[in-house]
Amino acid sequence: MSMLTEQKLQSFKHIIQQSSRDEILWMSGYLAGLSETNIFDNGTAVKNNAPTAVEKLTISVLYGTETGNSKKISSKLAAALKSRQHKVTLTALDQYALSNLEKESIVFIIISTQGDGEPPAAAKKFYDHLHTKEHDLKNLQYAVLALGDSSYPLFCKAGDDVDVRLNALGANQIISIEKLDTDFYAASETWINTVLTNLPAASTGPLLTNQPKQPGKHKKVFYNGRVRAHLNLNDKGSAKETWHVEISSAEGIYYLPGDSLGIIPSNTDEDVTEIISLLAGYKNQTIQYKEETLTLFELFKNKLNILHLPLRIVEKYASLIKTELPLVRLDLKNILSLYPLTANVSIEQLIAILEPITPRLYSISSSPSAHGNNEIHITVSRNTFSVNEKIKYGFCSSHFAALNEGDEVKFYIHPNDNFRLPEADKDVIMIGPGTGIAPFRSFIFHRDNEGASGRNWLFFGDQHFETDFLYQSEMLSFFDTGSLTKINTAFSRDQKEKLYVQHRMRQQSKELFTWLENGAHMYVCGCKDPMAKDVEETLIDIISKEANIDEESAIEYLNKIEEEGRFAKDVY
Ligand SMILES: Cc1cc2nc3c(=O)[nH]c(=O)nc-3n(C[C@H](O)[C@H](O)[C@H](O)COP(=O)(O)OP(=O)(O)OC[C@H]3O[C@@H](n4cnc5c(N)ncnc54)[C@H](O)[C@@H]3O)c2cc1C
Ligand SMILES: Cc1cc2nc3c(=O)[nH]c(=O)nc-3n(C[C@H](O)[C@H](O)[C@H](O)COP(=O)(O)O)c2cc1C
Repeated sequence: MSMLTEQKLQSFKHIIQQSSRDEILWMSGYLAGLSETNIFDNGTAVKNNAPTAVEKLTISVLYGTETGNSKKISSKLAAALKSRQHKVTLTALDQYALSNLEKESIVFIIISTQGDGEPPAAAKKFYDHLHTKEHDLKNLQYAVLALGDSSYPLFCKAGDDVDVRLNALGANQIISIEKLDTDFYAASETWINTVLTNLPAASTGPLLTNQPKQPGKHKKVFYNGRVRAHLNLNDKGSAKETWHVEISSAEGIYYLPGDSLGIIPSNTDEDVTEIISLLAGYKNQTIQYKEETLTLFELFKNKLNILHLPLRIVEKYASLIKTELPLVRLDLKNILSLYPLTANVSIEQLIAILEPITPRLYSISSSPSAHGNNEIHITVSRNTFSVNEKIKYGFCSSHFAALNEGDEVKFYIHPNDNFRLPEADKDVIMIGPGTGIAPFRSFIFHRDNEGASGRNWLFFGDQHFETDFLYQSEMLSFFDTGSLTKINTAFSRDQKEKLYVQHRMRQQSKELFTWLENGAHMYVCGCKDPMAKDVEETLIDIISKEANIDEESAIEYLNKIEEEGRFAKDVY
């Protein structure tokens, strides 16, 4: 410290005291990098031109992504490693030959978590293979960056699992796993710098610095809106209820076609009141929950999931009250009434085992350019299922179904950079049965409003033409004006044999392939299983037939256009 004048020393100490652990880590990496570089007056680190002895490392950067965030960070890491002259390969986990893992020396894995703590669909094969097969990874050095969202109960679980498994298989951590929440942008750069300064060999080069920050882009910013229109798109006699919900907001809502609207639904007053009556002894207690002091009512109303509790919670409750419980998913009110909380268990212990309310996402069906930034539309199908032959309805979709004009809606934007429109002159093929049409309504409005010269082809399907042709008049009017170049519909129950979008695609095989060969971008949205799977299999058949190639080469063709960003899925 005696190196520094008293004034500099005080300033230095002041910065350290004001900084978080992450910021200090970043600064240490930054300073280490500066010692290898020259710094000029604009604060940008510039590569030292003096030759330095750099050991070239062979590094694999692997990513598992659903909405493109992990891919972006991976590309940035790969570029930073390459700029240090290392030999780097960047691969999506679904394209990665797992047999290579034992031959690797350094691997960085950037992976998000989806579903209820699962890996992204494209990383599933890698994840399963890693967990079910034995591998000798003694010679592997690695680090995992896990992306997630702390609103979900199993925060960054997929990344965590991969990290634990690699470790168990003998691989050596270069740095500990880092778990990032939705405001990951700046923290991911800090992580990249930490990676750069911890590479397992002498290695020099610039760290990331002065990167343009994008405040708010990935942060959950909640908007307060009100329902401005609310209508059931299905006609009388339909087996379905699909609600077109328009929400207006005084403040500008920033989103792009392809994004989703996220909502954390509140529990009903009736359910919460019932739970509180079962916890009568604690009725007036306030609870400290994640930096907030809440009444028990507020906590159960807005924060904790009390419905259809996962089995892991039922198990935890059984061990809390030291009673054997049947392993079935029940609502909290049913558990508390059948198996009351015992006197030796505190309310805090009960709350500690419960999980947050899971966000629900809805593909945005409006376009900011066509509808303006003060309104946003979604297309919500009322989720229906049966329990013991009784019809039941999904929680959040029922909430949307029951809304009235003027009701308040608090929501956020969930960006999806993997599902974006191409340049205006490119053709697009959109396959979206049911609520899968939602982002395509946004796409078509957007392209129509911008006067895009590229052609637009929509495949839509549902049960019946008469009652279930969602947005029929809008789509037919877009067809009339030429904004929709082609539309093919499949109404599954209007004839004896079931007819789905994939059957229509097969009938259009030649033309569909010609569009693809001409550079069209293709999108699938809607139900993951079986629709998206059947559509993908059909595409492989179409490519194989029209290009006269075998199935394996057709899969390669589809993978290639996916890598080029010309085939994207948003399925759920
Ligand atoms: C990226 C993305 C985009 C999406 N876009 C749309 C969209 O545009 N439109 C749309 O309508 N949906 C969309 N969804 C789906 C939506 O987010 C919700 O998952 C859907 O509305 C169901 O939520 P819910 O709260 O109504 O149902 P939940 O109450 O969460 O129930 C969901 C399922 O859980 C089971 N379940 C729940 N309670 C019980 C119980 N008591 N007993 C037995 N089983 C039970 C049932 O199988 C039920 O179907 C999207 C999802 C994602 C991930
Ligand atoms: C349907 C859905 C389910 C999710 N489930 C989880 C989860 O269980 N745990 C978690 O930490 N994050 C979860 N997330 C949040 C994502 O991991 C987070 O948005 C991440 O930034 C996505 O990165 P990606 O674009 O690379 O896939 C979920 C997101 C979605 C859309």
